[in-house]
Amino acid sequence: MGEKGKFIALEGIDGSGKSAHAGFITDYLRRRGYTVFYTEEPSRGRIGRLLREYLKDESTLSLADAFLFAADRAEHLQHEIMPAIKEGKIVVCERYKFSSFAYQSVQGQDIKMLKDIHFFAPDPDLTILLDLEPKAGVERCSRGEKFETEDFLTKVRDAYLDLAKEFPNFHIVDATPDKMTVKDNVIKVVQDFLDNNGHPRPDQE
Ligand SMILES: Nc1ncnc2c1ncn2[C@@H]1O[C@H](COP(=O)(O)OP(=O)(O)OP(=O)(O)O)[C@@H](O)[C@H]1O
Ligand SMILES: [Mg+2]
Repeated sequence: MGEKGKFIALEGIDGSGKSAHAGFITDYLRRRGYTVFYTEEPSRGRIGRLLREYLKDESTLSLADAFLFAADRAEHLQHEIMPAIKEGKIVVCERYKFSSFAYQSVQGQDIKMLKDIHFFAPDPDLTILLDLEPKAGVERCSRGEKFETEDFLTKVRDAYLDLAKEFPNFHIVDATPDKMTVKDNVIKVVQDFLDNNGHPRPDQE
């Protein structure tokens, strides 16, 4: 048994199912006796709350967005994620630094600058990229609010696929099938990862 926890991040374009699967993973792991800390970005901390409010205005500068996301992430890591990992918890985090790399680079910010300002942010132990055609993503989140355009999300998706090749511990899951099929595939990735990395099911010998 590893005494330290694990850090699992969920990434993907709008509507790809991050919230749905973060919830499924959390429920699944808790039922099997793991101690899970579920969280998301922007965080629920002070900078995260400020950021959510700030982003409601669509005319924000993407450079300012980049720094605010990084500042929120620094606080989120320091106050919530790292302590949870130290306590041996499995952290399930919806969106992380790869969201900044993908979205803000498509908005014109230099990818090297984006990586540089995340010098403090470790790579997760496992990153699940929920990969979906942007058209489907737009349709799935078309209930109500404004969302990003298909054209924009096409670029974000490509940026994510590049990041998946560049960074370690990325696992791409096809998010096209129905929710329960995707759920089974995601859960299998997570359980295999935990089994192979010192965190077998607590209710097993
Ligand atoms: N495989 C699927 N098939 C059909 N609908 C799905 C599937 N996965 C998720 N959905 C539905 O699509 C919508 C968007 O999913 P969800 O909110 O989980 O996406 P998200 O990645 O968290 O989006 P956002 O980035 O906007 O937070 C929800 O209504 C969800 O129930
Ligand atoms: Mg969501």
